[in-house]
Amino acid sequence: MTSTINRPKHDWRVFAAAALREPSQMGTFFPTGEASSAALAQVVPGSGDPVVVELGPGTGAVSDVISRRLGGRGRHVAVEIDPTLVAHLRTAKPDLEVLLGDAADLGKLLADAGVGAVDAVVSALPWTLFPAALQTQVVRQIAGVLSPGGAFSTIAYLSGVMMPRGQRFRRQLRHAFDEVVVTSTVWRNLPPALTYVCRRPVVR
Ligand SMILES: C[S@@+](CC[C@H](N)C(=O)[O-])C[C@H]1O[C@@H](n2cnc3c(N)ncnc32)[C@H](O)[C@@H]1O
Repeated sequence: MTSTINRPKHDWRVFAAAALREPSQMGTFFPTGEASSAALAQVVPGSGDPVVVELGPGTGAVSDVISRRLGGRGRHVAVEIDPTLVAHLRTAKPDLEVLLGDAADLGKLLADAGVGAVDAVVSALPWTLFPAALQTQVVRQIAGVLSPGGAFSTIAYLSGVMMPRGQRFRRQLRHAFDEVVVTSTVWRNLPPALTYVCRRPVVR
């Protein structure tokens, strides 16, 4: 059973409305389930006061898991391109720091918000719907904001992994990070998904 079923119906309606409005930005009708969210959140340091940046929080499915792992430590900043979702998050999750903007402008968005070196970036962006140039730009921005010891995780839907854009994305990751680990597939996620966990950014 996926956590989608356990989440408030209201969240799903907001998510589905966004998917109907902006299908090429959402990429799915279902918020990420608990198991895939936990796989994504594994890059969040378990101690200290880390700076965690989340890309594409949607209605906050992954945000909730990150927040639980942080337990009030550090700083959790989310970057969302859809103004309606930003407004929803600011109401539903007042503790989450939400920036309205495009992940392609990540460096500037974070600088304007006074965010320095980032310890972890967690993404649920729909990479295979992005044109090649946008994929490249966002991966470069992520590698550029991460501290040398930082880590980046991103979900990848199984349906897109073998597509040319999915393959290209994987090559981009291998180019931008010294280490790219692929987790096992979470079949009960809707849609089934794996997670890339990337460490040691090499592109500046
Ligand atoms: C597949 S949904 C994931 C939502 C949520 N994180 C989850 O896992 O349930 C993708 C999210 O990325 C956002 N998004 C798409 N392109 C973006 C971009 N270039 N910059 C920031 N957010 C973007 C969408 O608006 C949407 O909220």
